[in-house]
Amino acid sequence: GTFAEFVSVAADRLMEKPSHLNFSEAAALPLGGLTAFRAIFTKAQIQEKQKILVTGIGGGVAQFAFQFAVAAGAEVFVTSGSDNKLQTARKHGVSGGFIYKDEFWVKTAFNETGGFDAIIDSAGGSSMNDYLKLIRPGGRLVHYGSTTGLPKSLDMFRLFWCQASIHGSTMGSDSEFVKMTEFVNQKKIKPIIDSVRSFDDIVSAFDQMHEGRQMGKLVVTF
Ligand SMILES: NC(=O)c1ccc[n+]([C@@H]2O[C@H](COP(=O)([O-])OP(=O)(O)OC[C@H]3O[C@@H](n4cnc5c(N)ncnc54)[C@H](OP(=O)(O)O)[C@@H]3O)[C@@H](O)[C@H]2O)c1
Repeated sequence: GTFAEFVSVAADRLMEKPSHLNFSEAAALPLGGLTAFRAIFTKAQIQEKQKILVTGIGGGVAQFAFQFAVAAGAEVFVTSGSDNKLQTARKHGVSGGFIYKDEFWVKTAFNETGGFDAIIDSAGGSSMNDYLKLIRPGGRLVHYGSTTGLPKSLDMFRLFWCQASIHGSTMGSDSEFVKMTEFVNQKKIKPIIDSVRSFDDIVSAFDQMHEGRQMGKLVVTF
């Protein structure tokens, strides 16, 4: 976002808006969509029918990650701090969800799914060792953020015995942006918009994010 009424950009930085999206939906797409696209396809290399976990689905990037994975034919599971957000994700085609605040969510997730081929995460912190318990042999952990900080330790034994790999991912290239837009067009994916508000009300958007009440994108108009 720019938080400006007018911006000047080079013409080669512009792309046509997918026709099934209105302007608020299109404004929600670029950074979140691009970051999710690289994480899901370039780094995690997800395939049809693979089991995927996307964590913290209230996040702006995570909502695209789980929608892209569902559209690609993967069997997608999610985590959230909120039951309502899990319900919203189910309406968008995810197979199941877990509350990461529950003490035993890792055990429940393992018993229900048998583990995941890839985990897409931006929480980081101590959760990394939980994800190592949930990753299948040869699986991929992809991190595009570290909202809860750095891990205090890392279970190296699980990492190598499991032949798992850890990938960092950030934003994406011009060609990934083109592919992401084509994928959104082809699959008719719509960003989940939490709310649209005027610039005068922008502070309330930050309050909402701070309290973790958002599900999807907070769009600001002029
Ligand atoms: N690398 C990149 O290109 C890129 C691009 C954009 C953002 N980021 C980074 O990615 C992170 C997320 O940004 P965002 O804008 O997508 O999200 P966001 O809107 O800031 O939301 C963060 C989400 O993290 C989830 N969360 C909090 N604690 C968690 C935990 N212990 N386990 C799992 N999930 C947890 C929450 O999910 P629930 O609401 O479901 O509880 C929350 O909604 C930030 O660190 C940001 O800097 C990176």
